[in-house]
Amino acid sequence: MMVIRTVSVMKALAREWRREGKRIGFVPTMGYLHEGHLSLVRESKERAGVTVVSIFVNPTQFGPNEDFKKYPRDLEKDSAYLKDAGVDALFYPDTSEIYPPGYRTSVEVAGLQDRLCGKARPGHFRGVVTIVLKLFDIVGPDYAFFGAKDAQQVLIIRRMAADLNLDVEVVTCPIVREPDGLALSSRNAYLDPGERKAARVLSTSLRWAEKAVGAGERDAPRLIAGIRTILEAEPLVRIDYVEAVDPETLEPVAEIRGDVLVPLAVYIGSTRLIDNLRLSV
Ligand code: PAJ
Repeated sequence: MMVIRTVSVMKALAREWRREGKRIGFVPTMGYLHEGHLSLVRESKERAGVTVVSIFVNPTQFGPNEDFKKYPRDLEKDSAYLKDAGVDALFYPDTSEIYPPGYRTSVEVAGLQDRLCGKARPGHFRGVVTIVLKLFDIVGPDYAFFGAKDAQQVLIIRRMAADLNLDVEVVTCPIVREPDGLALSSRNAYLDPGERKAARVLSTSLRWAEKAVGAGERDAPRLIAGIRTILEAEPLVRIDYVEAVDPETLEPVAEIRGDVLVPLAVYIGSTRLIDNLRLSV
């Protein structure tokens, strides 16, 4: 596996691959890799001729009081995982390589970026969209792989790719979970044992919602109230939001009909966790 630290070398390698007619698969990450990330890598290996993974803890998507400084990092372990998975190149740039002095430009996906997680994290999606567009330009992928755990993120990236006529197919991969249901996340590392136990309630509440809809529940406010009741029974949990929304516009829906996304975000201690349920009725 090649480890590439500069934009110019990454671009040159990608150009070479394209000249050889190879299809490039790309998995952008912030590292501290787990099975969720590795499921995206496997999907890329299935679909593309060569696979590039980036590890870049992107400062512009963290708010001033968020966890950029303490975000978990373990390059050695990450590279070993990626090598084992058969990744062709790891792109691991320094911050100054991506945002050199004088950097001014950012990209916004108006509206979509302000809802759900965008409310509690103003500027977050501007940072995400900007880095992803920059990485797309550097790597020039045919396919890019994102996890459904970050449902709003992948929706916004799809919108950006369509709006800017990018030649990349954005592929959404299913949520990978721990045996007890907790969605894998690098941020789970922040949870102490008590918090980790409490965190099961996210997926428990969504599984309840799925069953309720299966049993005929169609009233969105009632479904949300039921989820909130389950979450609130766990004293360590503080709810940021629970909503039922149209998966394309993220506008709230009143009724559970057709495709509906039920995303939630909670704080457990100071750790913010998200999860979601995709319904097709
Ligand atoms: P990060 O949180 O490292 O996640 C990288 C990718 O892994 C994202 O597409 C995310 O949705 C996916 N992922 C994380 N947990 C997952 C799980 N349990 N199951 C399936 N996929 C999962 O998301 C980011 O980084 C950044 O915002 C990034 C897109 C790299 C831009 O900086």
